[in-house]
Amino acid sequence: ASQSTWSQRFESALHPAIARFNASISFDIQLIEYDLIGSQAHAKMLAHCGILSAEDGEQLVAGLEQIRQEYRQGTFQPGIEAEDVHFAVERRLTELVGDVGKKLHTARSRNDQVGTDTRLYLRDQIHQIRTHLLAFQRVLLAQATTHVETLIPGYTHLQRAQPLSLAHHLLAYVEMAQRDWERLGDVAKRVNISPLGCGALAGTTFPIDRHYSAELLGFDQVYANSLDGVSDRDFAVEFLAAASLILVHLSRLSEEVILWASEEFAFVTLKDSCSTGSSIMPQKKNPDVPELVRGKTGRVFGHLQAMLVTLKGLPLAYNKDLQEDKEGLFDAVMTVKGCLEAMTILLEEGLEFRPTRLNAAVAEDFSNATDVADYLAAKGIPFREAYNLVGQVVKTSLAAGKLLKDLSLDEWQTLHPAFDSDIYAAIAPRQVVAARNSYGGTGFAQVRQALQRADERLQSA
Ligand code: ARG
Repeated sequence: ASQSTWSQRFESALHPAIARFNASISFDIQLIEYDLIGSQAHAKMLAHCGILSAEDGEQLVAGLEQIRQEYRQGTFQPGIEAEDVHFAVERRLTELVGDVGKKLHTARSRNDQVGTDTRLYLRDQIHQIRTHLLAFQRVLLAQATTHVETLIPGYTHLQRAQPLSLAHHLLAYVEMAQRDWERLGDVAKRVNISPLGCGALAGTTFPIDRHYSAELLGFDQVYANSLDGVSDRDFAVEFLAAASLILVHLSRLSEEVILWASEEFAFVTLKDSCSTGSSIMPQKKNPDVPELVRGKTGRVFGHLQAMLVTLKGLPLAYNKDLQEDKEGLFDAVMTVKGCLEAMTILLEEGLEFRPTRLNAAVAEDFSNATDVADYLAAKGIPFREAYNLVGQVVKTSLAAGKLLKDLSLDEWQTLHPAFDSDIYAAIAPRQVVAARNSYGGTGFAQVRQALQRADERLQSA
């Protein structure tokens, strides 16, 4: 076994099982690119401040560069003897550049180092996820654009409520994705703060320039308090909360797609590229993609909960518990990206709406009942009175096996003299949708404007 960094202080080596238990290299190797960038910035800062000579600084930067090449070529594959990615890099650096490698850790601790790496990683990932969110919005928008005139039953309590433009329904998810995109932009502000130079917990005796390294790394600010800087994981909690909401939205859409694909609804057809068959039932075509997205949602919620529990009751500053921040974070990032990508493909080419079925569906129910009440209310009958009257009409029509459109003008006029022959046009599904022209409503004119606003927003994003 190779010697640990602290072998001079200790009498004997770690128990092999404890070494495995303690090591984080199997997962924090994912931070290596950020560890290298962070270390390069640190080395440059040390030289800039005259703490190391310019040559030492250059040698360190070049050695770290070489490790990057080795890692990318697959020749640098540290095992658990290195404990974590930070030790692995420092060791390799010393092998490559000799004793000067041992100077890299001047005025630094793994505590500010790991915080720096994690933030750089998350900043990159947030950028990628935001790009996925824009792509997701674009396919929703494309579907919506082709389905402004397609009607779909709108539900409350999963009971037919009022018909909608299908575009309006899809645009609701565009709004959610837009909030998610904005929320991540906001989280990024608190991710992009540098803890580098906070040291182990108290700062350092060397005349470092924290703003200099922060600027090299593209951080907007530096942590004002060293204790806070090394122990803050709020940014990870915020990210996991934002990620959880993304999954909430994807999961709600998934549930709808699963319902829509059922024989009972039959609002969409699943395409072969995004569905699977059964091993026994030859007729099956299953909506695996939305089911998996719905299923994976729980994992991300779990990671949020785990992070909160890890932080609760931790005394300042660094505690090894904080090593537990990474696996959940990495898994959440991977899950969010995977789910967004799969749902984007599903909406782009994995399903087809069935306009004939959808348009027919809204013609066969009482979802125009509100419009009858509105019709009377517009003629001066108090809404509650009109509502009660229509309630009776629905009851008697149901008993007679009729829909509202099947009532004769005589029947309407017996119910109330205010009814006229224009009642038929007023309760036709297309008119029912068109008439809801209030701002943000499902009226076709409103939907067209909403489409345009969303399109402009996406163009400028
Ligand atoms: N692998 C550790 C982690 O991920 C790095 C920081 C270790 N610091 C320490 N004082 N043991 O948290």
